[in-house]
Amino acid sequence: MTTLTLEEIAQQLITPEKGILAADQPSWHLAERLEALNQPIQENTYRDWCHLLFSTPDLSAHVSGIIMHPEAVDLATDDGKSLVDVIRDHDIIAGISPSTGLVPLAGADGEVIGAGLDGLRERFATYAKLGIRFSKWRTAIRIGENIPSAYAIDANAYTLAQFAALSQEAGIVPIVEPEVELLGNHTIERCFEVTEWLLNRTFDALYQHGVQLEGTLLKANMVVSGADCPTQADVETVADLTVKVLRRTVPPAIRGIVFLSGGQTDLKATAHLNAMNANTTNPWAMTFSYARALQRAPLAAWLGNAQAVTQGQAALKHRANMNALASVGRWSTDLE
Ligand code: 13P
Repeated sequence: MTTLTLEEIAQQLITPEKGILAADQPSWHLAERLEALNQPIQENTYRDWCHLLFSTPDLSAHVSGIIMHPEAVDLATDDGKSLVDVIRDHDIIAGISPSTGLVPLAGADGEVIGAGLDGLRERFATYAKLGIRFSKWRTAIRIGENIPSAYAIDANAYTLAQFAALSQEAGIVPIVEPEVELLGNHTIERCFEVTEWLLNRTFDALYQHGVQLEGTLLKANMVVSGADCPTQADVETVADLTVKVLRRTVPPAIRGIVFLSGGQTDLKATAHLNAMNANTTNPWAMTFSYARALQRAPLAAWLGNAQAVTQGQAALKHRANMNALASVGRWSTDLE
């Protein structure tokens, strides 16, 4: 078995016209989404959902990597094949989201921090042995009255950098995800300002922790109006401001930026990605790493029904294809 360098793995993850499927929701999260659709969850529903996603025929035409939740790493098909191997057998790189979630940040009312650094060195060693080649850590910065605080920005930036350093130590490519959340009534200008601040502090922390940028990917939010802002920016403005903030803050040594969808509709997430790639040339590739904007349609087609696996997989394949086209600026609404 050849051992790939961090840079080689990062490069494979950002193969042109491909993106990443974020399937790192825990089982309780899937249960909540199915319950909202009036579907009860059974003993194997989580495993079956992960299996549907990971075994979608020919998904590797549009998807380079899949991010799993640690729960899924321990699951296997009825004939004993691990879900990590299901991903690898479909020519897709397996990744992990090892954070244990967001918890309140002590001393910072209303702000949160990504938890789970304890024991991470040992967990990464186990994941590397299983063939997991990349990892992702999300922090969430909220915009509201008097927040974010400089303390929350810095604490989250440091946590991301510690995660990234541990990941690289294990030979696993880190994707750092300093997310500015969509929730709130703030303007797009305020989102720009906070995103610029957070990205600057994150890259400063990565530098201080000796993280090799060529073997790292950035998972970024787009610069958008808060979900409850009365004035919603149009697609071109979102694309322009997102590229502007990234050019100000992201070193060219980072080869790829992968976006989260952050609660945008499926079509908005695709349209924004397309507008950025159609109109600008940048030192880094920009592609998708969506969870909701890739899983919403297949989940609605499947609804836990064993007879509807093919329909669920077709819906996933379609969204992945649309976003892959958007990653090179060749998507348009009539392709939908
Ligand atoms: P969304 O695309 O739903 O924002 O999720 C991104 C993500 O990072 C999930 O782990």
